[in-house]
Amino acid sequence: ASSLQEIIKASSYIGRDDEFANDIDWNNLGFGLTPTDYMYIMKCGRDDEFKQGQLNRYGNIELSPSAGVLNYGQGLFEGTKAYRGEDKRLFLFRPQQNAIRMQIGAQRMCMPSPSTEQFVDALKKTVLANRRWIPPPGKGSLYVRPLLIGSGPILGLAPASEYTFLVFASPVGNYFKDGTAPLNLYVEDEFHRSTRGGAGDVKSITNYAPVLKSLSRARNRGFSDVLYLDSVHKRYIEEVSSCNVFILKRNVLSTPATNGTILEGITRNSIIEIARDLAFQVEERPIPVEELLDADEVFCTGTAVGIAPVGSITYKGNRIEYKTSNQLVCLRLYSRLVGIQRGIIEDKMGWMIEI
Ligand code: COI
Repeated sequence: ASSLQEIIKASSYIGRDDEFANDIDWNNLGFGLTPTDYMYIMKCGRDDEFKQGQLNRYGNIELSPSAGVLNYGQGLFEGTKAYRGEDKRLFLFRPQQNAIRMQIGAQRMCMPSPSTEQFVDALKKTVLANRRWIPPPGKGSLYVRPLLIGSGPILGLAPASEYTFLVFASPVGNYFKDGTAPLNLYVEDEFHRSTRGGAGDVKSITNYAPVLKSLSRARNRGFSDVLYLDSVHKRYIEEVSSCNVFILKRNVLSTPATNGTILEGITRNSIIEIARDLAFQVEERPIPVEELLDADEVFCTGTAVGIAPVGSITYKGNRIEYKTSNQLVCLRLYSRLVGIQRGIIEDKMGWMIEI
C-alpha cells in the first residue's frame, strides 16, 4: 500500500497539466543520460527473496567499498523502452523478456533475481513516476535500465550476501551520434568480445568494459562501432559492441546463432518474428566473415540502437560498401517494429504492455 501511495504522490507531482518535462529539447535527444525524478530499489538478503521494493528520488546510492559488484563484477543490467502512444496511453515493449533474461543471467552469475511479476511491476512504477520524461510520440522513448548487483560486502571471492535490484530511466533518441546515418563498422582482429564457456550470452556488466578499448580505437579512426569475430576460428561474425547483427541476401535473412557467445537480443528476436511474418526466410547459423562481401544489406539491432543500417565494413584494411536508400528491407522491418511500438500497427503478438 505504501508503494501505491508513492505512485499517487509521484503522479500528482507530475500533474496532468504539466505532462512533459519542460527543461529538455525533445527534438535533439541523443543517448546521453538525462537524470529523471525517481528510481526503484528492491533488496534481497541471505534468504534469497526480494522483498517489496519502493520508489526513491533519483540520486546516488550508498555501497560498501567491498560490495561484490565493485570488487568482482557481480552484476547484470537490462534495457527496455517505454513509449507514449498517439492516444496518450503508455506502453513498455516486452518487459517480461527482460525479466526472463535477467533470471537466466542471474543463475550464471550466482545471484538471486526478482520474479517476472516483481520485475515488470518495478518497471511500470518507474515509468509512471517518471512519465513527464517520456518523449512526445515520434521524438524518442524513455530508456529503462534495470540493474541487479551484488551489493553485500565481501572480501574473498564468493557470491555477495545481499543483492540490490534498481531501475532508473532516461529519455533517449538516436543511439549513434550521427543519428540514423548508416554505420561504418570495423571488424576487430585483435580482441574478442566473448569466448566459448564465458558469459557472452548473458547481460553481465563484465561483458562491456572489455570492449571499450576496441570501441574507442575504432571511434578515433572514424568508425561508428566494432564487429567482433568468434575467438576460436577468428572467422565467424558474432555481434557489435552494443547490438546484434543481421545480413540479408535476396530473400534470406541471417543472424549468428546464439551458441553461448552471443547475447540473445529482444530486438533481434522481434525482428526474426517480423521478418518471418513478412515471408522472409530467416536463418540463425554461423556466418563466416567472407559472407559480408556479397550481402545485399547488413544491419544492427538492439534496444538502444533500434535498427541501424550498415553503410560500410572494414576488415583487414579492405572496405566493403553497401547500398543505402530508404528502400532497404531493414527499414521496412524497422517501420513495422516502430509502428507496433507506437501503437500505429496492430500488436498481433501482444508485445506492448500498457502501463
Ligand atoms: C541496449 O541496447 O539496451 C543495451 O543494453 C546496449 C547498451 C550497450 C546500450
